[in-house]
Amino acid sequence: MTKATARAHSNIALVKYWGKRDIQLNLPARGSVSMTLEGLSTETTVEFGDDLSRDELKLNEEVAHEADRERISGFLDLIRAEAGIEQFARIQSSNNFPTAAGLASSASGFAALALAGSTAAGLDLSKRELSILARRGSGSAARSIFGGFVRMHAGNQNDGLDAYAEPIEVAEHWDLRCVVAVTARGPKKVGSTLGMNTTERTSPYYRAWLDTVNPHIEESIHAIRKRDFEHLADVAEASCLAMHASAIAARPGVLYWRGITVGLIHFVRELRASGLPVFFTIDAGPHVKVFCEGDAVSEVRKNLQDFDGVIDTITAKPGGSAELIEE
Ligand code: PMV
Repeated sequence: MTKATARAHSNIALVKYWGKRDIQLNLPARGSVSMTLEGLSTETTVEFGDDLSRDELKLNEEVAHEADRERISGFLDLIRAEAGIEQFARIQSSNNFPTAAGLASSASGFAALALAGSTAAGLDLSKRELSILARRGSGSAARSIFGGFVRMHAGNQNDGLDAYAEPIEVAEHWDLRCVVAVTARGPKKVGSTLGMNTTERTSPYYRAWLDTVNPHIEESIHAIRKRDFEHLADVAEASCLAMHASAIAARPGVLYWRGITVGLIHFVRELRASGLPVFFTIDAGPHVKVFCEGDAVSEVRKNLQDFDGVIDTITAKPGGSAELIEE
């Protein structure tokens, strides 16, 4: 095998990952919990060949920027080392969701690349090994190897072999929906690695944030297993706000929110107070991700679409694990 194509879905953290215990191996300081999103996916083809003098990358049909090519090439070096091969590769990767909206594509992207790249290189990795590999590309990508509801382990070994994701429940377990309220166009200004690094080094609240994570993980897993929406709403909002509070308190403050982000937080709380079961979460950008159960999704979507300044909404249900696609 020298060529393979894989698809992986993005995911949204319900208990956030924010901070690394090792930058080189990209090891998270704490674990996290997420839902994999059907529909927000990346499809990636990797083909190794003797005719290439370096890796070639196309993103969404266009020749990629050099910085992106180098990041992907560095990731393929890990696969080449493991497989004992030296050939370079042609990589083609496309997102089926608007990259321009600044939504995270690194999770689905590195999960698809880990699976397509390792298969094309002749490796037959287990899901755990794939999760460990994907983590080297991006922390959240380790979770996108699995479908449904997923837990990431921080581990404590120096080699990172215990820092992998694991499924909590399959996608069919709970008809939870995520409606993304897109609030701005263009890529985010402060990437997650820089944002985490600034928080770790300078925020007086970083340690306090870390202390919230393990209890939140246990609580969220309990709520997911029991399909307890109210409890999950409470934990997920607490985790999101604690993460952003630690980031905002850094020097300089890492502030991903715009006015509309705060407006939407209040709006979601008003909807909940009026009897519509919803909660919000926010990542390293200005968009607000609103969760609800399947029976409430049309009402939630309509409310968000009518909110002044919301550019678009994208709705996803729990998605499956990363998979190979037959040519
Ligand atoms: O995987 P990264 O390096 O893009 O970081 C993800 C950070 C957050 O999206 C803010 C939180 C998370 O757990 O996904």
